[in-house]
Amino acid sequence: MGTHDEALRAVEASLDRPSAARIYDYFIGGTTNYAIDRAFAEKVRARLPLMGDYCRTSRQFLGRAVRESVRAGIRQFVDIGSGLPTAGNVHEVADAERPEHDVRVLYLDNEPVALAHSQVLLADTADEARHQAIAADFLQPEQLWDRVVDSPVIDARQPVALIVNAVLHFIKDDQDPDGVLGYYRDQAAPGSLLVLSQMTNENPVDDNERQALADLLEYYESTTNPGVLRTKAEFERFFGGWPLLAPGLGYAPAWHPDDETLFANSPSESRVIGGVARKPQDALRRPSSAS
Ligand SMILES: C[S@@+](CC[C@H](N)C(=O)[O-])C[C@H]1O[C@@H](n2cnc3c(N)ncnc32)[C@H](O)[C@@H]1O
Repeated sequence: MGTHDEALRAVEASLDRPSAARIYDYFIGGTTNYAIDRAFAEKVRARLPLMGDYCRTSRQFLGRAVRESVRAGIRQFVDIGSGLPTAGNVHEVADAERPEHDVRVLYLDNEPVALAHSQVLLADTADEARHQAIAADFLQPEQLWDRVVDSPVIDARQPVALIVNAVLHFIKDDQDPDGVLGYYRDQAAPGSLLVLSQMTNENPVDDNERQALADLLEYYESTTNPGVLRTKAEFERFFGGWPLLAPGLGYAPAWHPDDETLFANSPSESRVIGGVARKPQDALRRPSSAS
């Protein structure tokens, strides 16, 4: 985004429909959302009363995945579809875990409001040598990865944690998430982690919930981000066979829960699945401009 005026125009142009980033921000208690987003969110909540808790569950999973990644030795994060800055941003969680403040984070999103606010947050609170927010589309992997390689905060020859959290339910199968994620997996250095989560339609408790989840998808057709829910079996392929870290792919609250974790005693009620996998050290790596 070149100038402030360009950013403002992009934001204004995006206000004719609710946006996933701003709806999610509203659900998790943020303030960067508009009337059109709030009205949409309340329509969803009327059908799925716990939708706010599902969104907070996704955000909590992100925080725990970042913490565990740092503990596993990761020092750089590429957060695709990073959303609007709110409590528990990746660089804040990482810095809290590493008082040495040596973890670097690149945030990428294709939503103008998310990018504009991320840049303001980073300008105010972050370390520009270690944290950056840029515009990029998950669905254009070659362009996106070129930007990762060009970014001064990431050394793409070293392992990264590649985060695609609460994003894949906005990517339908005909948009080729398999090919896109395959490209990222190929580019990432051995030892990299892949952090993935999404909303699931696994085992609805009853027909009413089954229908409510179908209605949710229908509602999102009118937003900037139509979506798709997936079962665990449909989701696991996105890890590309990389070995999953314990406890594997499952309901997000069951992944290293802590005192704050919503649904810790009833993970299957959370409607969010997630996991973290590691690229084997002996995996072949496709050559890129970073090599
Ligand atoms: C529900 S929010 C999740 C935000 C953050 N990852 C988190 O877990 O808290 C989904 C984000 O994905 C972004 N997104 C959706 N499609 C995208 C795409 N094709 N490229 C980049 N970002 C995308 C949206 O703009 C939004 O910010």
